[in-house]
Amino acid sequence: MQTQKRRQAIIVLDFGSQYSRLITRRVRELRVYSELLPAHTTLEDLRERPHLDIRGFILSGGPSSVYDENAPLCDPAILTSGLPILGICYGMQLLAHQLGGHVEPAHGRREYGPATLETLPEAALDEQCYRIFEGIGASPAQTNPLGAPRDTQPLRLPVWMSHGDSVDVLPPGFRVLARTESNPVAAAANAQGLVGLQFHPEVMHTPQGKDILRNFLYRICACDPTWTTSSVIDEAVASIRQRVGDARVLCGLSGGVDSAVAALLVHRAVGDQLTCMLVDTGLLRAGEREQVVETFVRHMHIPLDVADARQRFLAKLEGVVDPEAKRKIIGEEFIRVFEEEAERLEAEGGPIPFLAQGTLYPDVIESTSHDTAATATRIKTHHNVGGLPEEMVFELIEPLRLLFKDEVREIGSALGLPDEWVWRHPFPGPGLAIRIIGAVDEQKLETLRAADAIVIDEIRRAGIYKELGQAFAVLTPLQSVGVMGDGRTYANVVAVRAVTTGDFMTADWARLSSDLLARISHRVVNEVPGVNRVVYDITSKPPATIEWE
Ligand code: XMP
Repeated sequence: MQTQKRRQAIIVLDFGSQYSRLITRRVRELRVYSELLPAHTTLEDLRERPHLDIRGFILSGGPSSVYDENAPLCDPAILTSGLPILGICYGMQLLAHQLGGHVEPAHGRREYGPATLETLPEAALDEQCYRIFEGIGASPAQTNPLGAPRDTQPLRLPVWMSHGDSVDVLPPGFRVLARTESNPVAAAANAQGLVGLQFHPEVMHTPQGKDILRNFLYRICACDPTWTTSSVIDEAVASIRQRVGDARVLCGLSGGVDSAVAALLVHRAVGDQLTCMLVDTGLLRAGEREQVVETFVRHMHIPLDVADARQRFLAKLEGVVDPEAKRKIIGEEFIRVFEEEAERLEAEGGPIPFLAQGTLYPDVIESTSHDTAATATRIKTHHNVGGLPEEMVFELIEPLRLLFKDEVREIGSALGLPDEWVWRHPFPGPGLAIRIIGAVDEQKLETLRAADAIVIDEIRRAGIYKELGQAFAVLTPLQSVGVMGDGRTYANVVAVRAVTTGDFMTADWARLSSDLLARISHRVVNEVPGVNRVVYDITSKPPATIEWE
């Protein structure tokens, strides 16, 4: 059996900061593999990950005070493991608190927002302790190469602060590296590679933050840049090949980027042993089915089974108004169609033991994390159409399980997925059914498809498609009076929704230009029969959700 090479990794321990995930992403952007694990992970737990060559730890920030009754602590064995550790904000306070220093409680004070970090002139003379700031330039990414002559001039850097408590006594062996106006211990380190930063290097508001993280990875943890698109592809392909052998694999395509990239990876690994399946629910956007066929069959030559289930879904949805009921019906019907098709494919070409899915790392974190975010109330039932039919006996292949969305996009591009697809906005599993308010029928679907295509077309022409998290049209059941030519009309209102968002948990309505809104409105009313009024949704999430149902 082929033995896997151990992968260099930085473990980020999540103490509950809203930025924890971002830290992990930043490390990966710097070409080092990183995993986000719960705060209580122990060194012992990590022995279960023998494939990882752990080079260092980052302790994230978090909302707690070290003096809180149930304050999360770091496993002492990690602190004394000899591996480098970067403590950010609460993480820095933990280093002080657990290693014999002292944290000054906030007494209600808080330092929040921009600050100027000044390194201490004498600190720069201590080569070992100063490695975290070594070679940092006055502007981002001017960092000196490793091994360049040392510059010991003090630095003044804009940084982002967000904390209450602060460290006032350092543990033995540590020295202060930098201060801010209100914080005399804004950065500290010891010679063994334990570093505390009271500010947040992972956020954009700390422009040199990435350079600081780079120093941690390359100067302190001695990492190599091994997490690259080509290495990820090579490893995924090798591991799929090894698992699958000469068996068959099925992959459900949704039209989104995740399932497409999963399919491309499997195809690269095992070629024609892969069959893709697209269930046409009739709830897809204009041209979506054709695009899947065009790309996969004609362009990539990947076997594709299109199940035309449009009538079945429409029949099931007839007269159904309640959004949750729609979601449930669609989820169940999808599983039924998927099962039937899989059985047919097996009858025709032999058993298919494997199912490939486009599960991403954020889904994995969500389902394994123990923090409160994971147990947040479910606002809507998210039937992930394209998801695993529970009672089916497939072995899962999830080649994107360790990847963030931006990494999946890079891989998609590298594997030849067209740009238009790579950058596609996410589309909900229940499709257009939850963008038609009230009962769904063929006529309304046609109306919505036409309006939606115009919205997207105009947004693309304006060159802002990539800047938006999602944009689409919603068909409301509201009818209003209008006038067209000499006649009075009584037709539907279409709402336009466009949002900017990082993680889809919160979102803001996009400030589309009035010219763009005018073009959209003009075209929708003129080109789509049955619509005589267009409104723009100016509600953020929360309190609204992105979708209307
Ligand atoms: P909301 O509307 O809850 O949506 O703000 C957040 C993100 O999730 C998508 N969404 C869904 N995706 N099945 C899915 O696969 C669903 O039932 C579903 N409902 C919402 C939505 O498009 C947005 O990206």
